[in-house]
Amino acid sequence: INGTEKFPKGFLWGGAVAANQCEGAYNEEGKGLSTQDIAPRGIVGPITEEPTEDNMKLIGIDFYHRYKEDIKLFAEMGFKVFRTSIAWSRIFPNGDDEKPNEKGLQFYDDLFDECLKYGIEPLVTISHYETPLALSKNYDGWVNRKLIGFFENYVTTIFNRYKNKVKYWLTFNEINSVLHAPYMSGGIFTDKEKLSKQDLYQAIHHELVASAKAVKIGHEINPDFKIGCMILGVPNYPLTSQPSDVLEAMKQDRDNLFFSDIQVRGYYPRYMNRYFKANNIEIKMEPGDEEILKNTVDFISFSYYMSSCATTDPEKKKGAAGNIIAGVPNPYLEASEWGWQIDPQGLRYILNLLYDRYQKPLFIVENGLGAVDELITDENGNKTVNDDYRIKYLNDHLVQVAEAIEDGVDLMGYTTWGCIDLVSASTAQLKKRYGFIYVDRNDDGSGTLERYKKKSFNWYKEVIATNGGSL
Ligand code: BG6
Repeated sequence: INGTEKFPKGFLWGGAVAANQCEGAYNEEGKGLSTQDIAPRGIVGPITEEPTEDNMKLIGIDFYHRYKEDIKLFAEMGFKVFRTSIAWSRIFPNGDDEKPNEKGLQFYDDLFDECLKYGIEPLVTISHYETPLALSKNYDGWVNRKLIGFFENYVTTIFNRYKNKVKYWLTFNEINSVLHAPYMSGGIFTDKEKLSKQDLYQAIHHELVASAKAVKIGHEINPDFKIGCMILGVPNYPLTSQPSDVLEAMKQDRDNLFFSDIQVRGYYPRYMNRYFKANNIEIKMEPGDEEILKNTVDFISFSYYMSSCATTDPEKKKGAAGNIIAGVPNPYLEASEWGWQIDPQGLRYILNLLYDRYQKPLFIVENGLGAVDELITDENGNKTVNDDYRIKYLNDHLVQVAEAIEDGVDLMGYTTWGCIDLVSASTAQLKKRYGFIYVDRNDDGSGTLERYKKKSFNWYKEVIATNGGSL
């Protein structure tokens, strides 16, 4: 790649978080409980009856009270965009309430104003891994069609309220993750083992209809809104050149692309008919559903942390680790401390794959390295972290992003995951840190909650200031 600026003019550089992983204040100012408030071990452990003190998310990084300080630091790095989510249960504490909670609405007004003060565009995920707990317990989450109506109320409320503050929206975070984490992703209370495929795909249908309705309602409220889908992006490589492995990789890719195929094209892809038939699944559609699905998204966003391999050989199927999707290890790749396989070129690959398939703008809304950081005191007496490993990870990935742009991919922006340390989704640990900003809080609950800039803070600032020229 030549030239100093490797990214298009107006490229949206920034960082991403989710409400339930950073805000804390889980029961303040009228917020209702969410599915996350009783999941102290993330997706790896059981849920509890009530919120328990060991649940790191109840306090998070106290972003609810400290967001001004944090956004100031994002502005110092030069962020053009900040991705966060709205906690549904702050707005509708039980999900099915008639009236919204004004204090919850006010909080996000203040938060978005704070971003706009620095010229930072909010990019808002409407549903990021937290469903009001009452909707999960009383309705079994998205299995119940009534959720569509509750979601409609919720999106209508927030679109109207923030129509002059927020332009970029995402409907469901990693919508395809419901296949692997039905409780966290879809608020489905029924045990994963007991959940039938019929109910799972019916729940997915409800989410897809709700997502398309949100696109329709959003565009009516403000035609300038840009509303995207969000998928967990894990490209699958055939483990060997055996044709059966190639077909297996195609199949695994389709498990994920099924969701974006509908959200981008507006109808169910034909390849699913065979799967539905083989598994006795019959999607119950109501009149009008097919019409609604035609409200397609303006752009496609995705997370990218790793690639995976596919094989039909049961011997080689032994899993590699992953947040939601665990796959077959790739012998050519190294893995993070949590076993996630690091593959910068995979990002170039999936960018091309998605762009070839859809020809709509893309947005990378999560990418980053979860690692154990050591807080040290430098020669000037400042506390910091020498996170060269994180700089390397991000730099290697961004070089591949620049390649994809050269390949012709239309990319709107890039937000790193956990731009400030937060509680992990899969394991609910704070020890797994992603940020440019260190937060002094530990998994035993100790820590001052003070913020410190890591070495990567200035590195990213330079990347943004040079529009990728420094990579
Ligand atoms: C994505 C989620 O799956 O990956 C985030 O959208 C999550 O919520 C991120 O935090 C990283 O995963 P983890 O488990 O390391 O937090």
